[in-house]
Amino acid sequence: DWTMGAYRDEAVANIRKQIGDKRVICALSGGVDSSVAAALIHEAVGDQLTCVFVDHGLLRQGEADEVVGMFRDHMNLQVIHAQEQDLFLDALEGVSDPETKRKTIGRLFIDVFQKYADQIDGAEFLAQGTLYPDVIESVSFSGGPSVTIKSHHNVGGLPEKMGLKLVEPLRELFKDEVRDLGRELGLPAHFIGRHPFPGPGLAIRCPGEITRDKLDILRKADAVYIDQIRKHGLYDEIWQAFVAILPVRTVGVMGDGRTYDYACALRAVTSVDGMTADYYPFSHEFLGETATRIINEVKGINRVTYDVTSKPPGTIEWE
Ligand code: XMP
Repeated sequence: DWTMGAYRDEAVANIRKQIGDKRVICALSGGVDSSVAAALIHEAVGDQLTCVFVDHGLLRQGEADEVVGMFRDHMNLQVIHAQEQDLFLDALEGVSDPETKRKTIGRLFIDVFQKYADQIDGAEFLAQGTLYPDVIESVSFSGGPSVTIKSHHNVGGLPEKMGLKLVEPLRELFKDEVRDLGRELGLPAHFIGRHPFPGPGLAIRCPGEITRDKLDILRKADAVYIDQIRKHGLYDEIWQAFVAILPVRTVGVMGDGRTYDYACALRAVTSVDGMTADYYPFSHEFLGETATRIINEVKGINRVTYDVTSKPPGTIEWE
């Protein structure tokens, strides 16, 4: 009779055996996979684990505090909060090509992670939340033609470069099993149920050039949208929901004045694995109420649209 509790005990024993008295570092993204991997390794080796949370200035409202606060204060992990917003945002200035954004962010992410990791004396292991489907995918695609449409950013190639050995305690698990394990380890339910968030973050939800001004507006609109979704009890029915701020200003009226502000698009999809997706059929009431709230509460947006494209032919993200 196989239970997650038994899996947890076995995984903890294996991690202890692998790591011994050495130190481990982990890039914590706030996603379910890296979070569960970190919690599991922490259970096994305690303070031999140090996590690095890289803040690239492209996170959602309150995200850094939520993640760092939970792991540091609630779960007692050692977490370094790498505040590198300026480094990333300066490097992205004037960049509008989606793949250039990803490459810039991916490259800097590795530099930053390495810089902080170098300050941790005697680290010999790098923890990653690699899942079973990732293992299969990298095996079946190796050597073959590249089928990835977007370069997903992870710390690929980093272990070799830094001379670190990998610890991948989730390699045998599927996503739903990782969630079970996370619950077993005491991660709060709302944290485990969080929608996936892409490594490049808000950069790919801000089509065209990224500015700090647009990011601020986007964060506020996104927070209102997610609040609406939670209030209407729809969060768990949706795979991902977010706002994209469009690189266009439109004319509007507010009181007896004319406005000339950004338009935004709301996105919400259902999906099993992110490979295909359907747009979520919100009611007209929900959409109308949400548009009104965003325009009233977020300075800088005067028009709200809803994206009704499924995947394929669209992608979930706008870039
Ligand atoms: P698309 O937009 O390709 O997204 O339909 C499928 C899933 O992948 C996420 N995504 C990314 N995740 N780095 C990531 O870590 C990326 O560059 C990236 N691009 C897309 C997206 O949020 C969705 O869950």
